[in-house]
Amino acid sequence: MRYLLQLLTLVLSQTLTASSQSPPHNGTFTPFPYPWPVLYYNFTSQLQNHSMAYMDVSPSPTHSNDQTVVLLHGKNFCAATWEATARVLLSAGYRVVIPDQLGFCRSTKPYNYQFSLHQLALNTHDLLLHLGIDTAIVMGHSMGGMLGVRFALMYPATTARLVLANPIGLEDWKALGVPYTPIDVTYRQELASNFSNLKAYQQTTYYANTWRSAYDVWVQMLADVYAGPEGEAFSWNGARVTDMVFTQPVVYEFPLLTMPTLLLIGMKDTTAVGRAAAPMEIRSLLGRYDLLGKQAASVIPRAALVEFGDLGHAPQIQDPERFHEALMGWLG
Ligand SMILES: *[C@@H]1O[C@H](CO)[C@@H](O)[C@H](O)[C@H]1NC(C)=O
Ligand SMILES: *[C@@H]1O[C@H](CO)[C@@H](O)[C@H](O)[C@H]1NC(C)=O
Ligand SMILES: *[C@@H]1O[C@H](CO)[C@@H](O)[C@H](O)[C@H]1NC(C)=O
Ligand SMILES: *[C@@H]1O[C@H](CO)[C@@H](O)[C@H](O)[C@H]1NC(C)=O
Repeated sequence: MRYLLQLLTLVLSQTLTASSQSPPHNGTFTPFPYPWPVLYYNFTSQLQNHSMAYMDVSPSPTHSNDQTVVLLHGKNFCAATWEATARVLLSAGYRVVIPDQLGFCRSTKPYNYQFSLHQLALNTHDLLLHLGIDTAIVMGHSMGGMLGVRFALMYPATTARLVLANPIGLEDWKALGVPYTPIDVTYRQELASNFSNLKAYQQTTYYANTWRSAYDVWVQMLADVYAGPEGEAFSWNGARVTDMVFTQPVVYEFPLLTMPTLLLIGMKDTTAVGRAAAPMEIRSLLGRYDLLGKQAASVIPRAALVEFGDLGHAPQIQDPERFHEALMGWLG
C-alpha cells in the first residue's frame, strides 16, 4: 500500500514538474490558526486511515439550549471560516461542531479516495455519532450547502433543520450544457493556485467585483495550503472534489427534503462549476443566484428564503451582521 502510494506520488510529481512548479516547502509551514482547539476523529474508510479535523464548542451548561449546529465549509474555505457564525450561535446557546472534510485544510488528504457527497455525508454523520449527537441543525455554505442537502436526504431523522448559505448545486451545470472537464485538467489548474489568481476569482465571482481587506485573510488561508507542504495533495483532492460536485447533482431531489429549510442567498453570486469551459452563449445563463434561490424555495417543501440583493457568494463574510440577523431570526 505504502509503496503504491509512493509510486503514485512519484509518477504524479514527475508528470507535473514538466507542466508546473512543485509547491515550495520551506519547512516552516504553520497551519492557519483555528479559533478553538482542533480535535481529530480518526477512522478507516475505503481501506485507509484518516483523521478528520473538527472543532466542537459548547456554551456554558447554564446557557445551553441543548441544540447542536453542524457547520459545513465550502470548497474554497475551511472550518475556521465559520468563526464569526459559530460565535453568534454559541452566544445563543448552541453547541457548534465544525469539521474540515477529508481532503481539506487540517484533515488528512488521501491520494486514493472515491469522493462522493454520500461518502462525505456519511463521514460527517459518523463524526456526530462519535460525539453522541443524534439530531442537529445542519448548515452549509457553497459546497457545504450541497453536502448539507445530501446529508439531509440520507439522514432526515438526524437533520432537525437545514440551512443553506449560497449553496452550489441549485442547478445541474452539465444538463445546462457545461462540458465535462477531466480531473487531470482541473488538477493542473488547482496546482497553479496562488494568492492573486484566487483573489481575482473570488472578487468577480464571490464579491460582485468589490473588495475589502477583511476578505484577504480567507484568500491567504487557502493560498498558504496550496503553497505549503500539502499543496500537491490538496490540489489533487480539490480536483476530485470539483468532479464530485459536477457529476453528482442534488437539485432533482429538492422535493424530497422533509425538514424546515432556510435558504440564505446573496443574489450577486455568480458561482457556476465549469463556467470557464462552457460555450460563451450559455455562460451568462449559469450561476444566476438572482433566480436560483427562488427556484429552489419553490420546490423545497418547507423552505424559507432570505435574499440579499447586494451580496455575493459569501454573505456571512461580506455582511456578517445582516447575515446573522436573518439566521437567528429564522432559528427563533
Ligand atoms: C490503520 O491504523 C491501524 C491502527 O493504527 C493499523 O493497524 C492499520 O494497519 C492501519 N491501516 C492502514 C491501511 O494503514
Ligand atoms: C488521530 O490521528 C492523528 C494523526 O493524524 C494523531 O495525531 C492522533 O493522536 C490520533 N488520535 C487518536 C485518538 O488516536
Ligand atoms: C499566480 O498565478 C498566475 C497564473 O494564474 C501567474 O500569472 C502569476 O505570476 C502568479 N503569481 C505569483 C505571485 O506567483
Ligand atoms: C514558508 O511558507 C509559508 C507558506 O507555505 C509562508 O507563509 C511563510 O512565510 C514561509 N516562510 C519563509 C521563512 O519563507
